[in-house]
Amino acid sequence: MKTPVDPTTTEAWSDLQTLKNALVPDLRGWFEADPHRAEELTFDVADLHVDLSKNLINEDIIAALLRLADQVGLAERREAMFSGERINVTENRSVLHTALRLPADATLVVDGQDVVADVHAVQDKMFAFADKVRSGEWKGVTGKPISTVVNIGIGGSDLGPVMVYEALIPYKQDGLTCRFVSNIDPSDVTEKVADLDPTTTLFIVASKTFTTLETLTNARMAREWLLAKLVETGAIEDTDEARKDAIAKHFVAVSTALDKVADFGIDPVNAFGFWDWVGGRYSVDSAVGLPVAIAIGPDGFRDFLAGFHAVDTHFRTQDPESNVPLLMGLLNIWYVNFFHAHSHAVLPYAQYLHRFPAYLQQLTMESNGKSVRWDGSPVTTDTGEIFWGEPGTNGQHAFYQLIHQGTRLIPADFIAVANPAHPVKDGDTDVHGLFLANFFAQTAALAFGKTIEEVRAEGTDEAIVTARVFPGNRPTTSIMAQALTPSVVGQLIALYEHITFVQGIVWGIDSFDQWGVELGKKLALEIAPAVFGDAEALAKQDPSTQSLVSWYLETRG
Ligand code: F6P
Repeated sequence: MKTPVDPTTTEAWSDLQTLKNALVPDLRGWFEADPHRAEELTFDVADLHVDLSKNLINEDIIAALLRLADQVGLAERREAMFSGERINVTENRSVLHTALRLPADATLVVDGQDVVADVHAVQDKMFAFADKVRSGEWKGVTGKPISTVVNIGIGGSDLGPVMVYEALIPYKQDGLTCRFVSNIDPSDVTEKVADLDPTTTLFIVASKTFTTLETLTNARMAREWLLAKLVETGAIEDTDEARKDAIAKHFVAVSTALDKVADFGIDPVNAFGFWDWVGGRYSVDSAVGLPVAIAIGPDGFRDFLAGFHAVDTHFRTQDPESNVPLLMGLLNIWYVNFFHAHSHAVLPYAQYLHRFPAYLQQLTMESNGKSVRWDGSPVTTDTGEIFWGEPGTNGQHAFYQLIHQGTRLIPADFIAVANPAHPVKDGDTDVHGLFLANFFAQTAALAFGKTIEEVRAEGTDEAIVTARVFPGNRPTTSIMAQALTPSVVGQLIALYEHITFVQGIVWGIDSFDQWGVELGKKLALEIAPAVFGDAEALAKQDPSTQSLVSWYLETRG
């Protein structure tokens, strides 16, 4: 594996620094001077219509960013990913989430194995199962069809499925709902099953490793709840045989560790596999998407995968000048490394995308929150900005104040669809139109602001004039699609996956490991005995932890 190029030593980096030093952001002036700016900086990728024109860029900056991509060897690394080279260096793994969405007639041989054939074999099994649940052919212990699917997983085994399920609610089959249990806080599972009928509930235990404390604990609690309820209500007899049969009918699993699935008591026949070359945060398009496949059906899921694939193809083959994930990834580099932006807002103007920012937090921050490069040497620049957001218009009434008038530069992506699932009216007013008026207004306000002269011209009391000035030149990207279809949701995910990849390559980091989550997990297991009253274990803790745990032990009921 080649040593990463230090981006700061490239010619392009010096050029960018020079360009930044000379730049006087003036979006008003730039649009006035170039009436074609919007057109020139708007690109289509599959069904996504992406306007980059309200960013703090010009032709020279874009050219220098593209040179930077060249000088760090981005195209070569991209090809290495798509072809299955082990670019996840610290785990010695290929990174092949893009293979999960290759069509059945494609071939990709990695280590002598046609991964496309493997992927489609699992997909076929998943789709057959989804069809059985949807049609009612799959029955619970008392012969009733399934009406609620409860997915138990955390991180990538939760955030992807829940985000996509919520985004595609209008596509789900009537009478079937999904719920998602992730937190080890027992309130989560307790609340989620409280009103369920165990005879019509199917649990999916989703865990890539099948060792994750939260998921296995929740799965055991769900299993206890199911069996206790079934016995209590007389739905099954109080025998081991009946319990085994109930688990077989009400529990399935998704994992790369099928042996561990069997140890848990789930029949491997009811398990859906994937592979170590699928990172958890890149796995919603694998069997981890099973709750989505059940909810929207195999055709919808195929459409979802086709959306990913369209963006993959664009990212792999499109010219750099109009390659949207490449340009958006490079723009993030521009803001993080040359404007010292610490965070990036993602603001969906689509209520169904309300979990998209949370999903992106794992995708981007678990991928690029690193301080060493893939060869173990320290990074040479800032990495990994904080992604955050909430759907518009809710955010407008909460945190937009800081984006408009605060002292920090926060690049923001605005996402909207032209056709809503519910085209309703308030009297004569098209409510979605009103919603989108806000979407359009916000990026204009952020870009063009309001000058002191404009505020004064409104007759504003001089004492509050400055408080009412909007500086403008706050960069935004607008992403629009015709409608929030399964394909469009796949396209949005793939877009951000590749943006994340581009940033990781420029910074020289391995975006596919996540060692930073390990220490806390290990310490939790070490501290647990102290929490359960083991004085010796408590004495081994640092003074602050000892004091906190002691307070907890004294205070709890
Ligand atoms: O601890 C972080 C992590 O490993 C994520 O990367 C992953 O998505 C999550 O835990 C859940 O892991 P698993 O699917 O193996 O239960």
